[in-house]
Amino acid sequence: MPLQRYLCFLIAFFPFMAFGQRLPEGVTPQHYALTFAPDLEKATFTGEETIEIQVVKPVDKITLNAAELQFSKTEITQGEKTQDAKVSLAPENEQVTLAVEEPLAAGPATIHIQFTGILNDKLRGFYLARTRLRRYATTQFEATDARRAFPSFDEPAMKATFEITLIVDKADTAISNGHIMSDTPGPGENKHTLKFSTTAKMSTYLVAMAVGDFECNEGSADSIPIRVCGTPDKKPLGTAALRYAEEILKYYNQYYGTRYPFGKLDIVGVPDFEAGAMENTAAIFYRESDLFIDDNNSASIAKQRVFEVLAHEMAHQWFGDLVTMKWWDNVWLNESFATWMELKPAQALHPEWNAALSAVDATNLALNADALRNTHPIHATAETPEQINELFDAISYEKGSAVLRMIETYVSPDVFRRGVNLYLRKFAYSNATAEDFWRSLSAASGRPVDVIMPTFVNQAGEPLITAKSSCAAPKPDPQPKRKSKRTRALAKPQPKTEITLSQTRFWADPVAGAPQDSTWMVPVCVKADGAKPFCQILSQKELTVPVAGCSQWVFVNENASGYYRSRYDNASFTKLTSAASTALSSAERVSLLNDQAALLGSGQESVADYLDLVSALNQDAESAVVASYIQPLTMIRDYLLTEADKPAFEAWVRANFNPMFEKLGWTPAAGENDDQRILRGHLIRILGAIGNDQQVIAHAQQLAQQYVKNRQSLDPSEVEAVLRVGARSSSPELFEQYLSAIADPATTPEQLEYFAGAIPSFPDSHLVERWLQVVVSPSVRSQDAAGYIARVLSAVDIQGPAWEWIKQHWNEVQAKLTESSGAAIVGATHTFCTASMRTDVEQFFADHKVVSSGRALRQSLERMDGCMNYKKAQQPGLSGWLQHRGTGATGR
Ligand code: BES
Ligand code: ZN
Repeated sequence: MPLQRYLCFLIAFFPFMAFGQRLPEGVTPQHYALTFAPDLEKATFTGEETIEIQVVKPVDKITLNAAELQFSKTEITQGEKTQDAKVSLAPENEQVTLAVEEPLAAGPATIHIQFTGILNDKLRGFYLARTRLRRYATTQFEATDARRAFPSFDEPAMKATFEITLIVDKADTAISNGHIMSDTPGPGENKHTLKFSTTAKMSTYLVAMAVGDFECNEGSADSIPIRVCGTPDKKPLGTAALRYAEEILKYYNQYYGTRYPFGKLDIVGVPDFEAGAMENTAAIFYRESDLFIDDNNSASIAKQRVFEVLAHEMAHQWFGDLVTMKWWDNVWLNESFATWMELKPAQALHPEWNAALSAVDATNLALNADALRNTHPIHATAETPEQINELFDAISYEKGSAVLRMIETYVSPDVFRRGVNLYLRKFAYSNATAEDFWRSLSAASGRPVDVIMPTFVNQAGEPLITAKSSCAAPKPDPQPKRKSKRTRALAKPQPKTEITLSQTRFWADPVAGAPQDSTWMVPVCVKADGAKPFCQILSQKELTVPVAGCSQWVFVNENASGYYRSRYDNASFTKLTSAASTALSSAERVSLLNDQAALLGSGQESVADYLDLVSALNQDAESAVVASYIQPLTMIRDYLLTEADKPAFEAWVRANFNPMFEKLGWTPAAGENDDQRILRGHLIRILGAIGNDQQVIAHAQQLAQQYVKNRQSLDPSEVEAVLRVGARSSSPELFEQYLSAIADPATTPEQLEYFAGAIPSFPDSHLVERWLQVVVSPSVRSQDAAGYIARVLSAVDIQGPAWEWIKQHWNEVQAKLTESSGAAIVGATHTFCTASMRTDVEQFFADHKVVSSGRALRQSLERMDGCMNYKKAQQPGLSGWLQHRGTGATGR
């Protein structure tokens, strides 16, 4: 084999070599006693640990995980005998092997290790967090970073109990999985020692510690103490979250039928935090912006977000913490379930939030990702930390949750819940696989969930369900038999509607040539005029189902709970759209619109069809329906509009959305509900950013200027839109004001999101370059930097110069990146849509590798190709449609 081919071969088979990263079998941990003394000033810590293990068969070596740790003492004791262990490090595998002269026999033994480590600034392992005033030490261990804090059997199936002791400064406190059992002075003058209660049996990735001057709001639910904690300045912003956590805990105690098993619950906002939040057992850690809101002055969606994230992490306490996946290939079990579950408490306790509609949005996101060639099955092999990291994506979260929602509808919510409870009881304090989960559901439902689910979980991609319907006139009976009067009446031939359903794999960009097709077992739920809704399993390519009577319309995704795209023949589609506003629920209308937008993207529908549909529904003032237009209309604005077409398109947008906005006005009327407030924000964005409505932009600029001076001057639900649309005025003064607001310590985390999120809307590359300079400076937290950069790259008006800047300043950008944040920047390039930028991106990231972003890069390149094809296919149609409409659009 020539050398090059040989190398390719080696690389292709590298995944198998990566199996070397799993710990050998034969030794299992039972209990860890851990003592840590962090030194915040030096950014280091010392640790001492005793692990009680069970040796399954005689060994003279024990391998554990460890990374960036230094060992000072390593002993292994069995019975009366203590041996010094020889340490050999394998940093490439993040492992350490302890070897003893005399082999250990099967049975119990203890490992005793003294070690030191660093409090890093990369937001993982045991790390340093900072505010303007001081430093904190905190942890983030999922997926594979407990090994950076202590030598451990750092795999999810190696469950054990943990007894943690923290030695901290006199004036500081600490939070961990257990509650504080004792607090004693020393060692030394300036320290005290906090001993935490022993935890339940759990996985290493769920261990948590936070050290600093945290202050808490305290409450309880069903006799479980709950605290919401953070840096002292955040205390007033923690009350809403505490109330929500209390509501959610009671709800889950009911739902799960297993009461909250961990004694207490702490919820901690940490000043520097990479993820949104992390479900550490009984000590949920948070990014501040997802936890702290002003109870009296925050947007409805901000409250919903806080509620949902809490509901998500608290759902994990049972699903994830009590029962854990055996290995990371099934991380979807954790994340899909929590994502599916997070909406339940909101639906039950805050029906005014319409949480069901967020599920439709999430499904759409998943369907968009899963229509790429570079998607992956929900259940996917993952061996290395990098592969594991990459699995936390839209497929594991949103696709998985959409599939669960579909199955829940199919077996009914009560039955689904029984299956879940069965699973939790069976695997509590232990581990399970996907098969265990669907076996429990099959057992509870008596339905073939274990046959349906694998077609969605083990197979990549999504079905496109095509529905053709026609009303068949009754066929005359060829040989009428003599019948009694009664049977004759019954047998009277009735007209019926025949619905032919067929499935193929849906591709975002079929122009690139469809590879293999697939077949799923799809529960298709049908709703038709005059008939009772029903679900039908479509397991073959095509199936015709009859419905009694001549239906005026047919809809094949009842409750929008299916994980598929759907498409109708022309006649059925026309009938359906004219009935949509009355016959379909808002969730169903949103799913119909999302499917049409996806078909537009893939070239299976025309831009004219989509815009006509928007016109037909432009009286529909449901905020979720209006929200669904933003992405497709932005795609049209960004990629299809020629200079010549611009005025006509913008006028059309204004003509369609101005009437609704005029009714609503800029300020909320008395008694307005949350949905109307949210709608106002969407309309301001659509009119200002897509319709280029000069009046709206000018007024938004004025309101933004007022708002920067007086943060009470606007309804919180319109702040985000006003700041963004106001930025389109390109006013340098306004830009400066946003920058000062971002630097202002009085700005709440929610407001910070709005200001920082609005900056890419300044259509001026010089201003944006100034912003990028700020983003890479020490004044922006590294938890935020990658997200900010990604948002700039996604703003089509300025992405060209921004990309140039980023390439030129890559070293500074890279210094701000963490192990998992770089993928966001790579992912944001998917919004580029020219051949030259595509080549450039491919080249640049080939030369400048970003960890855990391999798939994100392939997906970005694929999306760019898709976008170029979309442009080619749809641009002429848009010009034609706009000309044909001519001055028919009567915008301002
Ligand atoms: N387990 C995750 C946090 C996580 C993500 C850890 C990726 C390690 C890698 C947590 O439950 C989670 O999903 N958090 C979400 C918020 C949630 C509401 C979707 C997050 O961080 O975005
Ligand atoms: Zn989660």
